[in-house]
Amino acid sequence: MQVATSILTANFNELEKEIKALENSDYLHLDVMDGHFVPNISFGYPVLKNLPKITKVPLDIHLMVTNPSIFIEDFIKLKPEFITIHLEANKPLETIMKIKNNQIKAGISLKPNTPVEALKPYLNLVDLILIMTVEPGFGGQSFLKKQVAKIKQLDKLRNENNYRYLIEVDGGVNDKTINFLKNSGCDIVVSGSFILNHDNKAEAIQALK
Ligand code: DX5
Ligand code: ZN
Repeated sequence: MQVATSILTANFNELEKEIKALENSDYLHLDVMDGHFVPNISFGYPVLKNLPKITKVPLDIHLMVTNPSIFIEDFIKLKPEFITIHLEANKPLETIMKIKNNQIKAGISLKPNTPVEALKPYLNLVDLILIMTVEPGFGGQSFLKKQVAKIKQLDKLRNENNYRYLIEVDGGVNDKTINFLKNSGCDIVVSGSFILNHDNKAEAIQALK
């Protein structure tokens, strides 16, 4: 299992130190929120722009914003591994094409109440599908077990049709809930508070892997 550590609940007064302790993460997961698509505001490009200077861990950007297309130009400057937008946001198709035209892997994410069927036009287009196992907006929520059926459904569709997307799961992942994801088809787990609240962060990451 690959692990993307979410820095949403990091101590931003000591961000550099926090990030240095996460170097065995496969990705750093960056939760960008606009206070409109979700009822919370986190950080944007101005706060993140110097991250590549302090870490070599590839970046995984999760845009929880209503109009992602207006932010893409800034985020591509970070040369991230993935930029993921929400299916429920404005102009998802146009935004995915914008991301891909900049040679960056494009992801699409589903809120818990959005069914897998809604992804049909995107299945052969995207590099990653992000299944939310909490309502987006906040770290530290409980894992919604019912969402595991979606992961299995997407894995089955991928095998039957030779789609090449990765499946990533975000929200409430810890050393207990990860057991629901074993053999589900999930390739990458996002985990925030479980890792950041751990005294030994490298060990917490390793435990999930
Ligand atoms: C929620 C975010 C998640 C969150 C995960 O809106 O997308 O990435 O930071 O945090 P935990 O692991 O605490 O649920
Ligand atoms: Zn996220």
